[in-house]
Amino acid sequence: MPDTITITDDRTGKTVTVPITDGVFSSAAIRELDPNLYFYDPAYLSTASCRSEITYLDGDNGVLRYRGYPIEQLAEKSTYLEVAYLLRHGDLPTPAQFETWRNEITHHTFIHENMRKRFVDGFHYDAHPMGMFVSSVAALGTFYDDAKNIKDPQSRHNSFIRLIAKTPTLAAMCYRFSVGLPFNYPDNDLSYPANFLNMMWKVGDYEVDPVLERAMDILFILHADHEQNCGTTAMRVVGSSEADPYSSAAAAASALYGPLHGGANEAVVRMLTDIGSIDNVAEFVESVKRGEGKLMGFGHRVYKNYDPRAAIIKKSAYDVFEVTGKNPLLDIALKLEETALKDPYFVDRRLYPNVDFYSGLIYQAMNFPVEMFTVLFAIPRISGWLAHWEELLLDKEQKISRPRQWYTGPGERDYVDLSAR
Ligand code: CMC
Repeated sequence: MPDTITITDDRTGKTVTVPITDGVFSSAAIRELDPNLYFYDPAYLSTASCRSEITYLDGDNGVLRYRGYPIEQLAEKSTYLEVAYLLRHGDLPTPAQFETWRNEITHHTFIHENMRKRFVDGFHYDAHPMGMFVSSVAALGTFYDDAKNIKDPQSRHNSFIRLIAKTPTLAAMCYRFSVGLPFNYPDNDLSYPANFLNMMWKVGDYEVDPVLERAMDILFILHADHEQNCGTTAMRVVGSSEADPYSSAAAAASALYGPLHGGANEAVVRMLTDIGSIDNVAEFVESVKRGEGKLMGFGHRVYKNYDPRAAIIKKSAYDVFEVTGKNPLLDIALKLEETALKDPYFVDRRLYPNVDFYSGLIYQAMNFPVEMFTVLFAIPRISGWLAHWEELLLDKEQKISRPRQWYTGPGERDYVDLSAR
């Protein structure tokens, strides 16, 4: 069977035949038939917007790999900082490369004092930490003259280091501000996840529990990238206008904020809290089937199977609960999963737990308020966004993003004076 597709424009009888590679064919074929012919593809359901070598996702089989490495192996054996290097450079670092990377990131964790004193202190006392985070990431770029030098490899490198190093600092600062606690400065003697936990929780004597440090690192690894999702697409679209990476990352973080994307973990905990008891699970599932709401943390645009990240998180949750005590919402979540996975509504639509179904339970057990959940997602995703941003900038096939539209508004009509309307 030939690996080609032949398209005929029945209006003109013109035909083009183009190769199909890895299940993809170029839309240039359509332009060959008629330069004014477009696909109508809301939400990009059938559109590959780029070539990418970063993350492989097979949604039918529940497979996720960063640069070829299965997520299960990375979660078990690697660290987030190593994964951030891998995402950017395409290969795991040698010990010397890793040491340089770790050292650079560790020594860029501090942020300018004015960020805290003048910028963050200006927020209303009950500002949502994710809203603060989004704007702080954009504001951070204004402190670096070279942020806009996106064509200079050294400036790009500086942006990688600064953003990966400083986002945990910004995140912890937003949290401490929101609860009125003094800010904890970074401790460069700690690991990346331990430093973050320390900045979050240190009041008096505080030592990071190694189990929670590792759980945090695993969560960071699992959230580091997920190919062309809504946030990453926002990063690429804004980055394609050659905006600086801080502004682009702020746009990506804004996309992540929504409850259908990174905001879902917050929505899951609120949903489980509302359900209140395993006795109410069956009725809740029925209400979802009647269209009265969604089962948050279920379903995915690409995964039509168990999200492999959800499986790893579910396992890691038990390690965390050994230290923190079991989250009382766990039983409701387990019952909900069991009920949904047996119900034809969910089975027929291939709706399975996604990454957000269990992550909120771990975050909550670790004492994070629900408002911080999406911030916790954004901290590691910064490395994925940046890897995609640089890939885009170095991709000769890319231009400024500019989709076409299908205009369905009125045809030409004459203006009528206000008094005559
Ligand atoms: N609960 C109940 N029904 C659902 C759900 C759900 N969570 N998700 C999808 N459906 C139904 C949907 O109503 C539709 O039914 P029908 O064919 O009868 O109209 C069918 O399943 C197909 O869904 P869809 O809306 O066409 O799927 P989508 O690819 O556009 O949406 C999604 C994907 C993730 C936005 C959606 O599944 C959803 O809203 N899930 C809940 C929110 C959530 O957990 N989001 C986190 C995603 S994972 C983290 C991330 O990467 O951001």
